[in-house]
Amino acid sequence: MVSRKRVFVTTSHGAGKDHKEKAKAFASEHGYDYVSRQKIEDISRLVNDAYVYVFSKNRILSVFHEGTELFFHPSVAKIRMLNIQHGQPDHLISSLSLDSTTTVLDTTLGLGTEALLIAAFLESGSVTALEKSEHVYNVVRIGLEYYPYRNRWMVEAASRIKLVRSSYKEYFADREDASYDVVYCDPMFEKPKMRSSSINALRPFASSHPPSESDIVQMKRIARKRVVFKVRETDRLFETLLSIGFEYERRTSNDIFFLVAENT
Ligand SMILES: C[S@@+](CC[C@H](N)C(=O)[O-])C[C@H]1O[C@@H](n2cnc3c(N)ncnc32)[C@H](O)[C@@H]1O
Repeated sequence: MVSRKRVFVTTSHGAGKDHKEKAKAFASEHGYDYVSRQKIEDISRLVNDAYVYVFSKNRILSVFHEGTELFFHPSVAKIRMLNIQHGQPDHLISSLSLDSTTTVLDTTLGLGTEALLIAAFLESGSVTALEKSEHVYNVVRIGLEYYPYRNRWMVEAASRIKLVRSSYKEYFADREDASYDVVYCDPMFEKPKMRSSSINALRPFASSHPPSESDIVQMKRIARKRVVFKVRETDRLFETLLSIGFEYERRTSNDIFFLVAENT
């Protein structure tokens, strides 16, 4: 039998009544254990054997596990949008070939950075974003909804994202052919890039199985126009994608590529 690690929910020290209420409601919705913060002396002593959620004013909702804290923050999306506004190309946005009505299935939500950026370009379109990991999904769902955005584009973009907690494997089974214009997949790299600090925070919580060839066939079936992958050249997936007809679209750094398969 697989033993499930315990999950505790608490608040930051000195949290107000509203944070306590939110934490209790969240714990009860998910069947986790609510613990008042006064009863937890040191979160770091709990987090090897458990996941600990903390509601706070600054970070809205964090989850701690194995010495790592995961919380939602749109700063990378903000920087990438500023670069685009200053005329620099964004390799993801160019590879997706969006127009304002495109419907996108982001099969790997992660921190939600790219879903947010994509949604900014879809005035009448939408992004459906899937996440398999329970804890990544929880943190990003609540973060996307309650983050105190200072930019109008982020508020609008966040409202165009529909989150689904599911593995793409199960999600694909119920989808008709050509259900979305574009399908995007950004799996965890097999060999981590240690410099990517935001993705490193995701690692203890994320699901890291790469997509199989049959998952990729399903992505092609569901996409009306194109399937786009972000992949590292050193990962086995890179060769698999090239062998089944994906082509180079963009190279972001020395060894990270956007590969595309067109359906039209
Ligand atoms: C590299 S991250 C994606 C980063 C994302 N593009 C962003 O902007 O933050 C990959 C994410 O895909 C999730 N994932 C892995 N396998 C999955 C699956 N079968 N179904 C759905 N999500 C999956 C992982 O848990 C992880 O959160």
